[in-house]
Amino acid sequence: MNNTTIRRVQHTAVIGPQWGDEGKGKIVDMLAQQHDIIIRYGGGGNAGHTVAHDKEEFVLHLIPCGILHDKQNVIGNGCVVDLDGLANEAAELKKRGRSITPENLKISDRAHITTPYLLFLDLAEELAKGKDAVGTTLKGIGPTYQMKIARTGMRLIDLIENNDISAKLDKIEQFVMGRVNALGLNADNVIAAMTKSEQNTKMTKGLQPYITKGGLDRRLVLETLMLHGEFVSRFATDTSYWLSEQIKKGKRLMFEGAQGTFLDIDHGTYPHVTSSNTTIGGVYTGSGIYVDIANRLGVMKAYTTRVGNGEFPTELKDEVGERLRQRGGEYGATTGRPRRCGWLDLVMGKYAARVNGLNQLAMTKLDVLDNEPEIKVCFAYEIEGHQTDVFPSSEATLKRAKPIYETLPGWLTDTSKVRKFEDLPENARHFVTFVEQYLETPIKYISIGKERDQVIVR
Ligand code: GDP
Ligand code: IMO
Ligand code: MG
Repeated sequence: MNNTTIRRVQHTAVIGPQWGDEGKGKIVDMLAQQHDIIIRYGGGGNAGHTVAHDKEEFVLHLIPCGILHDKQNVIGNGCVVDLDGLANEAAELKKRGRSITPENLKISDRAHITTPYLLFLDLAEELAKGKDAVGTTLKGIGPTYQMKIARTGMRLIDLIENNDISAKLDKIEQFVMGRVNALGLNADNVIAAMTKSEQNTKMTKGLQPYITKGGLDRRLVLETLMLHGEFVSRFATDTSYWLSEQIKKGKRLMFEGAQGTFLDIDHGTYPHVTSSNTTIGGVYTGSGIYVDIANRLGVMKAYTTRVGNGEFPTELKDEVGERLRQRGGEYGATTGRPRRCGWLDLVMGKYAARVNGLNQLAMTKLDVLDNEPEIKVCFAYEIEGHQTDVFPSSEATLKRAKPIYETLPGWLTDTSKVRKFEDLPENARHFVTFVEQYLETPIKYISIGKERDQVIVR
């Protein structure tokens, strides 16, 4: 394979330009056929990517959506891996006739492991924050990245080479229990919180088997870890090196973003964010390769949603928001929590296009707006008497931002069966054109339902 061939391959990054749950799973599934390798570069079990195939629905958390196709898949070094979660996801796929094999799934041996102690700490941190809680998915994401950055984490390679696992676990346990105490809590407070509500009980299911009187059953944690080590060593490899070899063979890559731009640790609505770089830079650090990404595709809902806490200028706390939630089925794919809903925010869109260098967009869930007589689109904020279209750096300022809307007429027509742009009602075409002109980025795909074929390609 010569360099000319390599240069011609058009790689793709699929990025969320909002607060996650934009419909990335559906779009990745749709585009998987045109790519050879699908790569997750950040996040972990906090992601919930839904793919609907002929009325059958899959929700993937850590494994890329390419697993539902005859494609190769990579969980990159930038991801954090809860081995129980991974095993459950693999078992669920197997039950439904889709097996993971060392051929179709490679996991970076440099990825960090989310041990049950870190699930415990996630809950403790949230508990201690009280009304300032982030509203995390309680999947141990923050604490795993925290340990990674503190240079005390445990990686897959440690497990595979059995590099002092027991001693490393001791250090993690000490760190977690020390931190719980420093937060003014004890283990019993955290254990009590696990079942404080139906929601918490559901969200801490992965942690519950490890709980014993006064803390976690260290013996069980270690035993399970070692067992998983045997299983995962079949899939673990230096994925950066492996990918570099595939690039030389001319393979086409698609990077499957998780979360969204506004949950990015650097560029999101800090501190109500996740703990990884969800934006385009994360593609490179989280996969350990460099390729020119020709298609930088932002998958954007026709409105906005957010799960968890934090500012949300266009949030609708009225019957319109409730209608969007019901029609859009806006309940978290990972935690089942109701998503907060609001109008499309193009100040956010502009920021996401800039931060990620987006050069194309997919607009999802246009059909959810089918029954709305009027549709509002925020194109600027008013902050202390000044109009701006620049997204502010602080949540304190964002809290003061009043959205300025353009009101567009609705189309009051079912769009779910439309397959050509020209066949959309005029007002729907106007809405799409308004958005792409404002963002100066073409909307290449319009999704009008959850099924794979419910899409308009332009
Ligand atoms: P992701 O995290 O970005 O992959 O998105 P999620 O899977 O968490 O949430 C998107 C939800 O919207 C899923 O339930 C999808 O099946 C659904 N969905 C995706 N595209 C469309 C669409 O165009 N119309 C409708 N009605 N639902 C969609
Ligand atoms: P996908 O890939 C929507 C949110 C959580 C919380 C914040 C931090 O499906 O789009 P974390 O558990 O990561 O520490 O939580 O981020 N969050 C998501 N919201 N979609 C996601 O992923 C999310 N992953 C995390 O709700 O507000
Ligand atoms: Mg999701």
